[in-house]
Amino acid sequence: MTRQRIAAGNWKLHTTVTEGCDLTKAIVQGWQGANAKVIVGPPFTHLAEVVEICSGSSVQVAAQNCFYKNEGAYTGEVSPRILTQLGVQYVILGHSERRQYFNESNSDILQKLHAALGEGMQPILCCGEPLEIRERSTHEAHVRRQLEESVFQLPEKDFGRIVVAYEPIWAIGTGKTATPEQAQEMHAYIRNLIRQNLGEGTANDTSILYGGSVKPANAADLFAQADVDGGLIGGASLKAESFLEIANTLNSI
Ligand code: PGA
Repeated sequence: MTRQRIAAGNWKLHTTVTEGCDLTKAIVQGWQGANAKVIVGPPFTHLAEVVEICSGSSVQVAAQNCFYKNEGAYTGEVSPRILTQLGVQYVILGHSERRQYFNESNSDILQKLHAALGEGMQPILCCGEPLEIRERSTHEAHVRRQLEESVFQLPEKDFGRIVVAYEPIWAIGTGKTATPEQAQEMHAYIRNLIRQNLGEGTANDTSILYGGSVKPANAADLFAQADVDGGLIGGASLKAESFLEIANTLNSI
């Protein structure tokens, strides 16, 4: 897979099924770009209807999580197999909210990566440091460890289906965006790690998205950076207008 520009919406625990379907319809109707890929990420309960609304359009669908087994006595979990049978292509894994509130470790995330890839899905793997790590200037080591203990355990052929999202936790939902320079510095660092672990070709082909208070007003400056291939967008993906504006910005860069 070659490097792509991607605008992915992470709706988190927002919208009812009806609201989510209306939002998806507005995005599908409004999206005409050909240079960027648009992905919507609703809650599990919305997926079947959202996939249906997106069918026949170029808009793709992501789940926000999945379990690392395909079946068994695991009350409350949703498997990659269930997701692929619904037609869901992408899955967000290792989001900082999953790590923080649901105690997901790098080894849990690695198991989920294996399970999702085993069903042919494309994981969007999140990494990023909390504020205290940034203030101690150990953010590079923190992110390196997250990647070394998860995606860098995968064989090179699997990495071809991975999208990486760098999301500094201090910028998520806070309105405090990383500066374009801070984003570029970390994206270049991550791409270099991919180069060291998996070679030049994989490094060049991997899309690295920035996440953390991306909005129409800051999207152009972030996306203009050489190693920023798009965004994982939370709050601003909940309104079709702002999400499409961000996606169109990416499309026209
Ligand atoms: P935000 O969320 O855009 O609301 O900061 C980003 C994310 O958590 O993926």
